[in-house]
Amino acid sequence: MNIIAHRGFSANYPENTIIAFQEAAKLDVWGVEFDVHLTKDNQLVVIHDEKINRTSNGKGFVKDMTLQELRAFDFGASFASEFAGQTIPTLTEVLNIFKPTHHIINIEIKSDIFEYPGIEALIANEIHAFDLEKRVIISSFNHESIARFQQIMPNVKTALLFASLVVNLEEYVKNFKSDAIHIPYYYGMRSIIQRAIKNGVIVRAYTVNDEKMASQMEALGVEAVFSDVVKI
Ligand code: G3P
Ligand code: CA
Repeated sequence: MNIIAHRGFSANYPENTIIAFQEAAKLDVWGVEFDVHLTKDNQLVVIHDEKINRTSNGKGFVKDMTLQELRAFDFGASFASEFAGQTIPTLTEVLNIFKPTHHIINIEIKSDIFEYPGIEALIANEIHAFDLEKRVIISSFNHESIARFQQIMPNVKTALLFASLVVNLEEYVKNFKSDAIHIPYYYGMRSIIQRAIKNGVIVRAYTVNDEKMASQMEALGVEAVFSDVVKI
């Protein structure tokens, strides 16, 4: 089964940190996934939540702080004391880690709570600067953000993220000129997955941390699963 290391090697290392990505880069997995937000001074940073509260020793919204202000906080110690000193990574730093590897790079644009005007163009510039157009998949729960990205960079693959069911799924996906959907696995009922695949939609499922479920997904024709554990 194709595995995508979710937020880096996040089962064993603090999610979305440099150490989690360095360790994911050593794994023989298909890809890596991470989440991107925009700082107050328009810098692309890799973090899951809109706020830094859960994963750092700081408090507040990413959008309200500059990169320099964010760099003052520790993003490793709350996972385990041995990882103290990890700081919030920039998109540039993470792409530097994966540029020399074989991994598919799934960049999730976290523009579903805050719009982050201009984030799509900034991400496109980075992909172009690293010459990674062929290895990147852009995804987002904000499908308007996907459409904006497609306008800017039509040659890069995209995927629509879903947290719940939509009617006429295949038609909806085609309207967004995307060839793939990323769906939660517990919601990935047999019939929906099979119908989507039959209609030419690529399906990837999150977040799958057990072997049995990964095998079931593979048998259904799911292309890849997002996993924290990554050693399925
Ligand atoms: O992209 C799959 C998955 O990462 C989406 O959910 O909340 O982990 O970003 P979340
Ligand atoms: Ca994500």
